[in-house]
Amino acid sequence: RSDAWSGTPDKPHRITPDQLRSRYWFDNPEHPGTTALCIERYLNYGITLEELTSGKPIIGISQSGSDLTPCNRHHIELVKRVKDGIRTAGGVPFEFPMHPIHENVRRPTAALDRNLAYLGLVEVLHGYPLDGVVLTTGCDKTTPAALMAAATVNIPAIVLSGGPMLNGWRGSERVGSGTIIWELRKRLAAGDIDYAEFLSRGADSAPSIGHCNTMGTASSMNALAEALGMSLPGSAMIPAPYKERAMVAYQTGCRIVEMVWEDLRPLDILTREAFENAVVTCSALGGSSNAPIHVNAIARHAGVELTNDDWQRLGHEIPLLANVMPAGAYLSEEFHRAGGVPAVLHELLAADKLNGEVMTVNGRALVANVQGCETRDPEVIRHYANPLVEHAGFLNLKGNLFDSALMKTSVISPDFRARFLNDPADPDAFEGRVAVFDGAEDYHARIDDPALGIDEHTILVMRGAGPVGHPGGAEVVNMQPPEALIRRGIESLPCLGDGRQSGTSGSPSILNASPEAATGGGLALLETGDRLRVDLKRGEVRLLIDEAELKARRRRLEAAGGYRYPDHQTPWQEIQRSMVEPLERGMTLAPATRYRDVARQ
Ligand code: FES
Ligand code: MG
Repeated sequence: RSDAWSGTPDKPHRITPDQLRSRYWFDNPEHPGTTALCIERYLNYGITLEELTSGKPIIGISQSGSDLTPCNRHHIELVKRVKDGIRTAGGVPFEFPMHPIHENVRRPTAALDRNLAYLGLVEVLHGYPLDGVVLTTGCDKTTPAALMAAATVNIPAIVLSGGPMLNGWRGSERVGSGTIIWELRKRLAAGDIDYAEFLSRGADSAPSIGHCNTMGTASSMNALAEALGMSLPGSAMIPAPYKERAMVAYQTGCRIVEMVWEDLRPLDILTREAFENAVVTCSALGGSSNAPIHVNAIARHAGVELTNDDWQRLGHEIPLLANVMPAGAYLSEEFHRAGGVPAVLHELLAADKLNGEVMTVNGRALVANVQGCETRDPEVIRHYANPLVEHAGFLNLKGNLFDSALMKTSVISPDFRARFLNDPADPDAFEGRVAVFDGAEDYHARIDDPALGIDEHTILVMRGAGPVGHPGGAEVVNMQPPEALIRRGIESLPCLGDGRQSGTSGSPSILNASPEAATGGGLALLETGDRLRVDLKRGEVRLLIDEAELKARRRRLEAAGGYRYPDHQTPWQEIQRSMVEPLERGMTLAPATRYRDVARQ
């Protein structure tokens, strides 16, 4: 806890109106000229002098919804209830736009915009007369961008997720967003369905407003924002169209005003213990493989050095409790009805896997918030003693090609186990010949080329897909086998790469390998035909080659000027590439992580 917040839940610390940050702009007798300039233009649309100067907190609302960001678009309506809440509690709301981030549409990748939106939000929160802020979130990167900025600026802040879409259905079958696309691609490749049916079935997954209804990156990050203590208990996973969603928007607006008076700030909440809770919770949720990147990034901006070793140490042993796609069978509506995030936290606390004393935005400790929140449907949110999968967290693999790469073990299917992890003497290891691709275009151009000799024992490798090689890092590591293999019923092969994969994918790939090929990582030295050994027990991936040959390859690569990647297309791509850190370190901008608590500067 920082020294800023000296309250207790029963007797919170309180600031006085003259301590409001906004007074510097709106009521500053020492600088009458500045004050006059600040108030006159806000008055021009009808705000009164009384509202700006009589000691009411000014509350920003970071609007992440727009026509370009459909997953968050309903925040345009929802913030009306936020404003009602702010007014009820005696604050003055100011809504402003956040840089749009839409996961599915942004080219070359939405990940490019997480750090851009972060920078923009930091400047707004620092530079305008805001005493507190409501962060509207939803689609994948909108949540980490908002939390990273809140940690850097450190004014009172609360997250309002937009909530997931309703369940998708095709007849009586649940259709989960993203997850269905991965399945349909295989069926299209196998010739079972045509393009028109592919599109129509894909759209079944999106029946309403809201973000992805699977436990993809959006649901994971909003659930983790709640687990971190940054949104109201029980709010993260209320489906977007439900009446409770608008009710919690109102309550969020009320609460942020109180947080300003209590001077309860992000760095009082985003402690090392809170991040460790998030790691544990992510495993129990079967959360996205993008979560470690984003949570590590938020942590670094909060001054907490969280690493992938922490993810394995704290998270790997945790069982899967949330029976939600892609790791499970249900979708967000069932998850919410079964008790949502509080029910998962309740199970984890009872199993002594969380720190219950951490502070949360409502001014109470986590343990108080989840009291009595037992699972209401043990089929959907499992009891700790009866999980869906044991050891559901990430493994942090290392070896002679990279320092860190994650594998989501909760999605290893029985079929995958039977084909690769089938040696009774050594059930946690397999070896295979690799086929290597340089980026997604190369993969699409060559995957069906018989000259690659891909068979059911091949390991597919994707490189040039990290934050430098493919600016922002591409979600392309989960590669589909060649069509000829799919027609024979081989629907997946082990994949390895320095890029990411979609959180909605159920593929047990080895991802986020750092350092990436483009910055000197060992994947650049691989050649099609090499053999790899993957040993999950020892946490190792090794290229089976002698050291001299590996060194000779590195000399040849360096003599040729290093690993080649495509040119920048925009100024931001060039700027980000010049300072972005590896996926393991959260893909943060190196200079930005030095700034902390900038609202006080
Ligand atoms: Fe926006 Fe999944 S595409 S939440
Ligand atoms: Mg994604």
